[in-house]
Amino acid sequence: AIFGSERVNSSGINIDIENEWTSFRDGVQKHMTRQWKKGPIIGGQPQETAAVTKVLSPYQRQETVGTIHWAGNADVEMAMDKATHAFNRWNQTGVNERSACLERLADLLEIHRNELVALCHREAGKTLHDAIDEIREAVDFCRYYAVQAREKFGAPMVMTGPTGESNELYLSGRGVFVCISPWNFPLAIFLGQVTAALAAGNTVIAKPAEQTGLIAARATELILEAGVPGDVIHLLPGDGATVGSHLVADPRVAGVAFTGSTETARLINQTLANRQGAIVPLIAETGGMNTMLVDSTALPEQVVQDVIHSAFGSAGQRCSALRVLYLQDDVAERIIQLLKGAMKELLVGDPALHETDIGPVIDAEALTGLERHVAKMKQEARLIAETPLPDDCDDGYFIAPVAFEINSISQLEREQFGPILHVIRYKASELDHILDDINDTGYGLTLGVHTRNEASACYIEERLKVGNAYINRNQIGAMVGVQPFGGQGLSGTGPKAGGPHYLYRFATERTRTVNT
Ligand code: NAD
Ligand code: ALA
Repeated sequence: AIFGSERVNSSGINIDIENEWTSFRDGVQKHMTRQWKKGPIIGGQPQETAAVTKVLSPYQRQETVGTIHWAGNADVEMAMDKATHAFNRWNQTGVNERSACLERLADLLEIHRNELVALCHREAGKTLHDAIDEIREAVDFCRYYAVQAREKFGAPMVMTGPTGESNELYLSGRGVFVCISPWNFPLAIFLGQVTAALAAGNTVIAKPAEQTGLIAARATELILEAGVPGDVIHLLPGDGATVGSHLVADPRVAGVAFTGSTETARLINQTLANRQGAIVPLIAETGGMNTMLVDSTALPEQVVQDVIHSAFGSAGQRCSALRVLYLQDDVAERIIQLLKGAMKELLVGDPALHETDIGPVIDAEALTGLERHVAKMKQEARLIAETPLPDDCDDGYFIAPVAFEINSISQLEREQFGPILHVIRYKASELDHILDDINDTGYGLTLGVHTRNEASACYIEERLKVGNAYINRNQIGAMVGVQPFGGQGLSGTGPKAGGPHYLYRFATERTRTVNT
């Protein structure tokens, strides 16, 4: 048997090393003008539907990446029928075979890395660094859940006791799992959900984000190539409000894994509560109003480096990203000055260039919402710094990274999913008050603390309701199997993705008692 300690995380590639960069760049280049044509995949077969849309790149609105056919209600029915019928056979397939499929999938992701990087870059606007990390995380999910499944679904747990019988506890799949994913990790989160559900013995219907259907379709082709039978995994690219809600409302659904906004999670929860059929689990990983607290013992240079990375990396389009930075008053001015300098150096622009720090946001709707918030902040708050946007940004959905000083976190109505940082100064005597303010937002995803006082770090961490606390470092980029990820409250239901308890929620438990 392979146990967790024998698994290693993917090392990816390091494009800061000259020869790794040149061979990677040449490999990716081959896919930079390619056009992908994809659509729903049901029963292992690609479907051509009437609703077809052109996919345009977020960094260059004129550039087509391909076309995607969207699924409709008839496709939902067909996928649901096939997934329902296929469940028993897949659930009875040994866990070793299911895990082997996931490990072959990990290998295939690495073999096709250049194409997947190009797709993540062109369809989702990811910088090359972020695209490499995306593939690496997807590979890690496959290998981690493969190992976890063998450990947990392999031999039953023998329950000893005084009954004189044989008592065993074992895990089994639930049925048809619906996996609904966002665009910001179009490969890693898509595959994280799907591979967990498959490893646990479920059949899967996956509904990717509207913006990133091509990446999901290519990933589904690789799942099939890895040996997962065609009636076990189905892909339905399409509109969330129609295809997504139709799927969730079906009484045959045995569980839903959802990652996206808190608002959508609420809608799904309501649909599940009101539909006919069994009471089923919803695994929801949602948004955050993430904070970092910096006290007067912190190292300012390190703070600024970690703030830049946490708030502006991936154009702030991470659920884990820093939104509100609290600075103790006696270090605030020095850190703000350093922050201004660092923001001036950020390079926003073409995400294909090695030196680009920040690419575009995902689409026009996202850009408009962020611009509206920036305009409001310019009226209500003090502008600290705004990174200049180069001229060649006009053709894409680019927004300048920006930082504002505000008075209270209660001025922020909702998560702003982009490179916008809010800064609040506080006095040591106000610490308890701000910790209450943060808890009052109801979100509980990531927390950063910068202090050289260990007792302070412990106190803050214990007082705040969060899922992932990072001390004296940045607060993004949780590593699969090492930093299990997920929040509480408005940020999600748990269990943590990439953690040892994740697969349990995709399974049912059964006790077998035999009178021997
Ligand atoms: P979203 O909620 O708009 O969409 C997510 C998915 O839900 C998409 O596939 C969409 O089509 C689908 N959907 C929309 N309406 C639906 C409905 N009524 N029924 C069923 N499905 C529906 O979120 P988004 O804008 O794509 O993603 C960004 C959000 O995701 C942010 O809030 C971010 O914080 C969150 N997120 C959270 C995590 C985490 O692990 N906690 C990770 C990544 C992103
Ligand atoms: N898992 C992602 C991160 O930690 C969202 O940044």
